[in-house]
Amino acid sequence: MKIFSTRSEIQQYLTRLNGKTIGFVPTMGALHRGHISLIEQAKATNHVVVCSIFVNPTQFNDPKDLQNYPRPIAADISKLEAAGCDILFNPPVSEIYDDNEHWHLNIGQLEFLLEGEFRPGHYQGVTQVVYKLLDIVKPTTLYLGQKDYQQFMVVSRMVEILDIPVKMVMCPIEREVDGLAMSSRNIHLTADDRQHSLILSKTLNWLKTNFDIKNIFQLEQDAMAMLQSEPGVDPEYIEIADGKTLLPANENSISIVALTAARVGKTRLIDNVVIR
Ligand code: PAF
Repeated sequence: MKIFSTRSEIQQYLTRLNGKTIGFVPTMGALHRGHISLIEQAKATNHVVVCSIFVNPTQFNDPKDLQNYPRPIAADISKLEAAGCDILFNPPVSEIYDDNEHWHLNIGQLEFLLEGEFRPGHYQGVTQVVYKLLDIVKPTTLYLGQKDYQQFMVVSRMVEILDIPVKMVMCPIEREVDGLAMSSRNIHLTADDRQHSLILSKTLNWLKTNFDIKNIFQLEQDAMAMLQSEPGVDPEYIEIADGKTLLPANENSISIVALTAARVGKTRLIDNVVIR
């Protein structure tokens, strides 16, 4: 696997690949099976697979969270090599951002809903870095995970607004055998937290199973009560949303997704399930 840390080096290398399709998997490292499934999907349909590892400071609204974000780069490199990734882009912050760089892309209400309400500024940071990475790598196809469902919607909106020539693919959530969605943050869960965290996927599955039995208002109330009754779990939201807009769904919505975020001990987790 080739490893680059500067824009100019990776761009020089990529321009020599003329005509080859590039599958791109942007990550913040601390790779798990979820990330590797994105690499595998990219490998299946592209000549070349590029992965980036960059812990993007602009998308963290809590400085402690940024500081504590896991950075096991040697283990990540081994995992990427084992998965057959062709190129890793692992730049320092100075290679991506100028000092005091500020800009805002208007992506409408998607920025402020759900995650956007609890993590103000988060999606501006995501659009900034993904825009820059797409500009550097110029991939044919961009692979993002369903676990960050709203992030996929936000990036799709940016791609649409800025008319960026890239195809987007959403890859399914990878779960532990007991249902916990894989996340780089799971390593922060204590043994007790790990048990309590299962309430997220259990509640989402309960919503899916009961969707045709109860009305949406009642489902959301009951689901919130389930999350609240689990020790050590402090839910931020659980919402049944329209899968295209993320506004509250109604029974006639064509696409429906249930999304949740909760603090489990000191760790913030998100999860979702597509209902329809
Ligand atoms: O999902 C992530 O890991 C990050 O938000 C992303 C897309 C790599 C941007 O920093």
